[in-house]
Amino acid sequence: MEGVTDAPMRALQGTNGAFTFAVSEFLRVAHLPISRTSLLRHVPELRSGCRTPTGLPVQVQLLGGDAGLMAESAVTAVSLGATAIDLNFGCPAPTVNRHDGGATLLRFPHRIREIVGAVRAAVPANVPVSAKMRLGWDHVDAIFENASMAAEGGAAWITIHARTRTQGYAPPVYWPLIGQVRKQLRIPVVANGDIRTVEEFRRCRDETGCRHFMLGRGALADPNLAARVATDLGLAEPRPASTIDWPAQLRQLMEWTPNGASYGLAKRWKQWLRIAAAYGTFTRFDEIKRATCPLELLSILDETIRDECLRDIPRSSF
Ligand SMILES: Cc1cc2nc3c(=O)[nH]c(=O)nc-3n(C[C@H](O)[C@H](O)[C@H](O)COP(=O)(O)O)c2cc1C
Repeated sequence: MEGVTDAPMRALQGTNGAFTFAVSEFLRVAHLPISRTSLLRHVPELRSGCRTPTGLPVQVQLLGGDAGLMAESAVTAVSLGATAIDLNFGCPAPTVNRHDGGATLLRFPHRIREIVGAVRAAVPANVPVSAKMRLGWDHVDAIFENASMAAEGGAAWITIHARTRTQGYAPPVYWPLIGQVRKQLRIPVVANGDIRTVEEFRRCRDETGCRHFMLGRGALADPNLAARVATDLGLAEPRPASTIDWPAQLRQLMEWTPNGASYGLAKRWKQWLRIAAAYGTFTRFDEIKRATCPLELLSILDETIRDECLRDIPRSSF
């Protein structure tokens, strides 16, 4: 998730051992194929077998409307060690859509087939190519054709966020449509959208009939959610309920952040904690929302951290 699930956050989400894989933030392919430098910067896991330091496999997500450039970018990613490529047909951001990327492609189903097909043909057969999409641009029924086109192009699976682009993040989320697409296709369909509790997960499972699920904001807001869902799926042993130690989580993130800290980091943390406040149990967003650097943010939540940060982090970082 762009702006939040960077490498440190992926590592943190990997600590619970509950996820099968994580997907990188989208990497935008605009006028040129994505460079090796950019890939390595955004997906540093490429240097370590495409896994987080906590062992979670990471896939590279590409976004763009030019099939040739997307294919070239995927080849570069694979040459660096990418083990799976996900293609983004869901991003609703106006700037992205104006530049022929993300959800805008949902208006041109044949282009989805072309892009998936070009990437599929360009990378080795053992590297799965998947597609992530919304239901449509402005009508939900578009999912049937778009999902078929992605499958025809060779997608190994499709992840569906059950909203249209014009909906943004507004309710409702149309889980039953995911179920209809699942029945129509012969490839796995991953259900996504508004799974924030185990109860919502169960409703989503019942309404979609899916066996695969993607957790977004719910997992960010409640770092224990993935483990509880995995337990409910029979994939993990039940664990005792635990409260979330937010400062400890931030310290973990800091540990996995190269060079300790930066101003951009505070922005990312706030993006995360905003989601945690909206969907989870983080109650102190108002206190930290004006923090301009990680140290300030940390010290608001835990004064003991302030001393540690002052000791451990190079002053130049701030
Ligand atoms: C801040 C933010 C950034 C996102 N960035 C991406 C992205 O880079 N790639 C992607 O496929 N989806 C992205 N999404 C969409 C999510 O993957 C997901 O489809 C959506 O949030 C619905 O699922 P959820 O209710 O579990 O969060 C983003 C969503 C948010 C809120």
